[in-house]
This record gives sequence, structure tokens and C-alpha cells, in this order.
Amino acid sequence: MGLALRWARAGETIILGSRDAQRAQQAAEEIRKKAGAGANITGMENSAACAASDLLVLTVPFEGQATLLKQLKTAIRPGSVLIDATVPLAAGVGGRASRTLGVWQGSAAQQAAELVPKGVSVAAAFHNLSADLLNSEQSNGDDSLDCDVIVCSDDPAATQLTRALAAKIPGVRAIDGGKLENARILEQITALLIGLNIRHKGHGGIRITGLPPQAYE
Ligand SMILES: NC(=O)c1ccc[n+]([C@@H]2O[C@H](COP(=O)([O-])OP(=O)(O)OC[C@H]3O[C@@H](n4cnc5c(N)ncnc54)[C@H](OP(=O)(O)O)[C@@H]3O)[C@@H](O)[C@H]2O)c1
Repeated sequence: MGLALRWARAGETIILGSRDAQRAQQAAEEIRKKAGAGANITGMENSAACAASDLLVLTVPFEGQATLLKQLKTAIRPGSVLIDATVPLAAGVGGRASRTLGVWQGSAAQQAAELVPKGVSVAAAFHNLSADLLNSEQSNGDDSLDCDVIVCSDDPAATQLTRALAAKIPGVRAIDGGKLENARILEQITALLIGLNIRHKGHGGIRITGLPPQAYE
């Protein structure tokens, strides 16, 4: 919802996916109220949403990720880019939200890459952006976030597309984080941030310093 709000605010065309089309339409309406009447946002059942776009953002709990991707395999268009923000939190199996589960493939993003149809590129990103900040009550989606987004993918074109999308969120600098296998580190950082948020009662994010200016462009 927070990402959709920010991108609707930035003028992107948004299709919200849900297991239930009506729920997606209600969520789209909620975002339109915040983003303004001009926001181009609709809601659809997940497979219809996949069939209608070739840039997908997967934001579901880890425990639903594999099943959902298997269900959507025939709906995802060849040549699509799928941005995965899934964090394999132990909370999904009754553990702590400040711990992650081991994933056989190395990370949730690598699991996604194994499950998407051939020719679909996966980029890992947005793991370290707080939904609370994106959705802040005071904001209509135009306040600035003090956070960087690190993007990992084995496809440089998917990295560039994801970085461009991330940079549409005010305050966000999008940094190329290398290969998709580095997603395991991004996913772990989220667990650390959740622990910090509990300890310090805040909404932590990360900033990467000391790189040459072009790394942030
Ligand atoms: N929240 C954050 O600040 C944050 C930050 C970075 C990364 N993440 C990661 O992003 C993902 C989504 O986080 P969230 O906080 O947005 O989670 P969420 O609110 O619990 O779930 C998002 C949506 O996923 C769908 N969903 C839930 N369970 C599902 C299942 N078993 N199968 C298919 N779809 C399911 C639901 O939509 P429908 O019921 O409408 O289908 C739900 O509204 C997680 O992997 C999380 O670790 C979250």
C-alpha cells in the first residue's frame, strides 16, 4: 500500500493485486483518497494484475510467496521484471520478527527467481523501507524518507528499472547492490531493523555513505 501510494503520487499507473478482486479495488480506492483524484490506480485479482503488466512488485509474507508464485506462473508475462521485497521472517512460523529463516536457495528473492517463468528477471529491493514511513498518516505520499534502497539482480536492465522506480520516492537514493545472491543480506538487514525498531521504538532505515556520486544517481 505504501509503495503504491508513493508511485501513484509520482504519476505511475498502478494495478494493485490481491487474492480477492474486491479487496484490491477497495485498497485502490483508499490510496486514491490519499494520492488525489488524478491518481491512476486500479485493483484486480493477482493473476489478472500479472497479465496486465510486465513490471511486478511482490510484497506478500514469506509463508505465502512460493505458493502464490506457483499459482501465478502462467499469468506472469514473458519478459516481465518481478521486484521481490519478501523477507523470510521467523515470525511467519511462530518465531521472532527480529530473526530470519534459512531459505534453501539462499534468500527469498532467489526462491522467487527459481519459481518465475523462464525469461522473467527478478530484482530484490525495498526490504529496508518501512511501510509505516511510506504510509505515514501525516503524508499524502509526498514527504521525504531518510532511507536508501539497495537493488540486487543478475539482470542489469532489471536493476536499472528498479532503481528508477525507487528514486521516484522522495528522499530515496537507489543503489546497485550487485548480484541477486546479495538479497540474503538485504533480507537479514530487515530483521535487524525490526529489532532496532522494537528496542528504540522507531522506524529505522539505512543510508549508505562514502560511495562516489554516480553510485547514487
Ligand atoms: N511492512 C514493512 O514495513 C515491510 C518492509 C520491507 C519488506 N517487507 C516485506 O514485504 C512483504 C509484505 O509485507 P507487509 O507488511 O505488506 O505484509 P502484509 O500486510 O501481512 O501482507 C501484504 C498482503 O499480502 C497478501 N497476503 C497475505 N498473506 C498471503 C498469502 N499467504 N498468500 C498470498 N498473499 C498473501 C495480503 O493481500 P490479500 O489478502 O489482499 O491477497 C496482504 O494484504 C513481507 O515479505 C515483508 O517481510 C515489509
